[in-house]
Amino acid sequence: MTRLEVAPPHDHPVLIGRGLEPPQPQGPVALVYDAAVEPLALKLAKQARPELTLRLEGGEASKRLAVYEDLLREFARARLPRDAEVWALGGGTVTDLAGFAAASYLRGVAWLAWPTTTLAMVDAAVGGKTGVNLPEGKNLVGAFHPPRGVYAELAALDTLPEATFREGLVEAFKHGLIAGDAALLAPWDLAPGRPELEPYLARAVTVKIGVVERDFKESGERMKLNLGHTLAHALEAASGHALAHGHAVAWGLLFAALLGRELGGEDLTQPVLRLLAWTRAPAPPTGGWADFAGYVARDKKNRSGGLRWVVPYAAGDVRVEPVAEAALRAAFNAWREHAAGYSG
Ligand SMILES: NC(=O)c1ccc[n+]([C@@H]2O[C@H](COP(=O)([O-])OP(=O)(O)OC[C@H]3O[C@@H](n4cnc5c(N)ncnc54)[C@H](O)[C@@H]3O)[C@@H](O)[C@H]2O)c1
Repeated sequence: MTRLEVAPPHDHPVLIGRGLEPPQPQGPVALVYDAAVEPLALKLAKQARPELTLRLEGGEASKRLAVYEDLLREFARARLPRDAEVWALGGGTVTDLAGFAAASYLRGVAWLAWPTTTLAMVDAAVGGKTGVNLPEGKNLVGAFHPPRGVYAELAALDTLPEATFREGLVEAFKHGLIAGDAALLAPWDLAPGRPELEPYLARAVTVKIGVVERDFKESGERMKLNLGHTLAHALEAASGHALAHGHAVAWGLLFAALLGRELGGEDLTQPVLRLLAWTRAPAPPTGGWADFAGYVARDKKNRSGGLRWVVPYAAGDVRVEPVAEAALRAAFNAWREHAAGYSG
């Protein structure tokens, strides 16, 4: 078992391992879980004896206001008091949603994150962001509300489809580019049950913890975590959300790598091309720069930092800066060529 610590003021442990012992509840527990991990939820319920157990369908369709309201009303009907704790067991959609319900019920009760996907373990459950989507856009409502602990139970991953397992590790790869951690740039042999998995996840979480500790509310360094995400959001939108997030980010990372190279940085394209193949990413939607520029401009406007880009000059040298249109177009053209010649 690996134990990492988030430093004050939002101090809490992040535990990664198999057969994790749940902590002593500090008050009545509301267990909110993803139906996909029901056996694990039942096991946890035996140990924690929750006051209330709520089962959800995991996935983006549940991460919305109506389901959030259902959770709050269930909490209220059960008369959960101020010292109650929400235990959120599931992928990133469930930890975001239940974490947000915890952030706002009675103006905030404690919560524990039990992430059950690779993405939730290395990204969504770490860093204290919670929230839901609106029909107008993803993650438009939420709160910063760090959990009391993160419990990454590796046994959960045994049931995760291989495609979802690999896709989630795209974010860990991204953390490797940000921190210059070469081990994170080589996930190729990882699978549930492999001994290398725990240290790999721990390295990825360590990067995220470091960034978040230095910039909790995303006023500067935390923006680096958006590496590859600007084009990714445009690709997801252009594909009508047929392209999975992890695959879109992998294509976005290729664009970022080409942009870094265009601006005089090291060539980081080789490991990213391998990542695309390893995750079995499909080819991205077709279209020229003009087709994506509208999406990109809208996405950028929604983010603090305006028209700044996250550019990797080398692994471990990632900068947030404005980029001239000519460089963006040149990188995009190179990216488009890769996409046209891509066979998976
Ligand atoms: N809060 C943050 O900082 C942050 C960061 C990154 C991503 N996110 C959010 O995370 C969400 C994506 O999370 P995700 O990729 O975990 O998706 P998800 O929660 O939709 O889970 C993916 C699918 O796997 C199923 N599942 C979950 N655990 C399983 C298991 N162990 N075995 C079998 N099936 C399982 C789910 O039911 C779902 O169908 C997005 O909504 C994104 O916005 C949040």
